[in-house]
Amino acid sequence: MTIKPVVRMGDQQLGTPSLKVTEFGTQSLYDLLQDMQDTMKEKNGVGIAAPQIGVNLRVVIFGFEHNKRYPDEEPVPFTVLINPEIEPLSDEMVEDWEGCLSVPGLRGMVPRYKKIQYSGYDAEGNFFSRKVKDFHARVVQHECDHIDGILYPQRIKDMKKFGYEEEMWERIMRTKHDE
Ligand code: NI
Repeated sequence: MTIKPVVRMGDQQLGTPSLKVTEFGTQSLYDLLQDMQDTMKEKNGVGIAAPQIGVNLRVVIFGFEHNKRYPDEEPVPFTVLINPEIEPLSDEMVEDWEGCLSVPGLRGMVPRYKKIQYSGYDAEGNFFSRKVKDFHARVVQHECDHIDGILYPQRIKDMKKFGYEEEMWERIMRTKHDE
């Protein structure tokens, strides 16, 4: 069990596109996935991407049953997603609050595709794809941005909707409950 330090916004590692995984089922891949899982759990993340712990590979994990940082969201199954591809299933965009372990303490309003199909490989190299919507789709788009070197603040349209979650928590919860 290894909890890794999370690389934070400003570190150039987070702005660099990651490399494809070429070998599956290896001990080094399993070790990476375990470190990512331990770190995500410790930080109460709903997902994490390899570059966030300093590894420049196209590997993301996500999923939760109940998460106190996103208390109103439906569960997302725990998923290992390697070399992912995303295809929007419609042009419809939805805005919602996002945070990121690499941007601690902050939240911003980010537009994302409402419905997507994503595909990729598990740790053993088995291909799979899923059609998802809403928060599940948002989490996947956020994590996949990481491996392209993009952080969510770059996608915020209205910078008035970006700030410290301690200051905005009521507003965040109100927006959720007014939907
Ligand atoms: Ni993130």
